[in-house]
Amino acid sequence: MPAQSVLLLDRDPASSELIQRVLSAGGASVTVMDDATAAMNAAADHSLVIIDVTDPSTTAADVCREMRSRSALASIPVLCICQSDDVEERIRFLEAGADDVIAKPFDARELEARVEALGVRFTTSRDLTPLASSETMVNRPRTLVAVYSPKGGAGTTTVATNVATVMAERRPGRVAIIDLDLQFGQVATHLNVRPRQTIADLARDEQSRRDADLVRTYAAQTTFGLAVFAAPSSPELAETVTVEHVGEMLASICAAYDFVVVDAGSYLDERSLTVLDQAEGVILPIYPEIAALKAAHVLIDYLSGTSAIVAKTSFILNNLFVRELLKLRDVENGLGAKIALDLPYDPFLYQKAVNEGVPVVRGAARTLIAERFAQIAALAFGSQGAPVLVNVAARAEEKKADKKPSGLFGRRR
Ligand SMILES: Nc1ncnc2c1ncn2[C@@H]1O[C@H](COP(=O)(O)OP(=O)(O)OP(=O)(O)O)[C@@H](O)[C@H]1O
Ligand SMILES: [Mg+2]
Repeated sequence: MPAQSVLLLDRDPASSELIQRVLSAGGASVTVMDDATAAMNAAADHSLVIIDVTDPSTTAADVCREMRSRSALASIPVLCICQSDDVEERIRFLEAGADDVIAKPFDARELEARVEALGVRFTTSRDLTPLASSETMVNRPRTLVAVYSPKGGAGTTTVATNVATVMAERRPGRVAIIDLDLQFGQVATHLNVRPRQTIADLARDEQSRRDADLVRTYAAQTTFGLAVFAAPSSPELAETVTVEHVGEMLASICAAYDFVVVDAGSYLDERSLTVLDQAEGVILPIYPEIAALKAAHVLIDYLSGTSAIVAKTSFILNNLFVRELLKLRDVENGLGAKIALDLPYDPFLYQKAVNEGVPVVRGAARTLIAERFAQIAALAFGSQGAPVLVNVAARAEEKKADKKPSGLFGRRR
């Protein structure tokens, strides 16, 4: 990777000196400026902008927002530094368009890892045609988001249930998840609900599937206020749900709830195509294996000829394997598209979540995995989505695990 050319906006000499020292030691060239206007004018000549302490007349979030509104600066990654571990401050930065946020006091290695990760993400993706830019997605309000993967076992249900849970915790009673993995869907299991009725029953009830009030009676409720439209109880019932039924159900469920997540499974037919077509955003989890990447590539080629689905698709790299054989760059090259976010591997938490029926975002809410799901929710549902907390590539995790003594800023957690 070429050396980073970092522009640091910082009026705090002690802080800027430390940041400069850490990043310079890692090979980056760092320019420090203390004037926000001058920094924005110079930003285009740098590969990364870090916003720390600005002058009193403007906030760091304002500077970030202003940068994001200038098209010439839109592709430059921005890292904002929180002056405390205050979640609200982080959210303000992320809503202002920051690509990543780090809170003081932080470990020098964490800063290095985040800067490196931003460099990798943006350098790798620069040459690729973006299918859906995170920026466009974050700024657009959405109601219907589909999660789909051309390969089974990619984590589709895990992503769909966690994203829906994140949203439901924000708006209890206003969020629904629909299991349209019609043959063997397991959304109800992941959420520990026992549905009295399923999508197959709803399909048979013409009046209810067309009515925004009646359709609600077909949902099972989780304890935290998520409405669950469960998959048919047996595979043979899958065929009783037609493409027309799916279209009508989607329309009335979207009218009944503020946010709707669909687990669209991994089977491509007219029904799943209807969902992908109607969704305002598509989240497509893939895992780092050549066969999965090829399948996704074939899907992109197939869809490119027929619809605008590709343009609204965001790829999530789900690190299903304990060892990382393919690097992010290999994955993106294999896919021919950029990865929006990645989910870390964990040998325990995901399975525990399924077995207990408690999504990771509730059962292990303070983990990096939960933070990633919050990020995916924000990506999926735009600025109304859940707060995004941190954004670190998997390599940052590895570095954190490193037991070396902490760096200049001391450990945060
Ligand atoms: N990053 C990860 N690390 C480890 N295990 C994971 C990870 N993501 C998901 N899993 C586990 O992988 C399994 C498959 O996940 P999930 O059921 O969400 O996939 P799916 O794509 O919906 O599968 P299916 O095609 O069967 O519907 C689950 O046991 C889940 O706990
Ligand atoms: Mg599934």
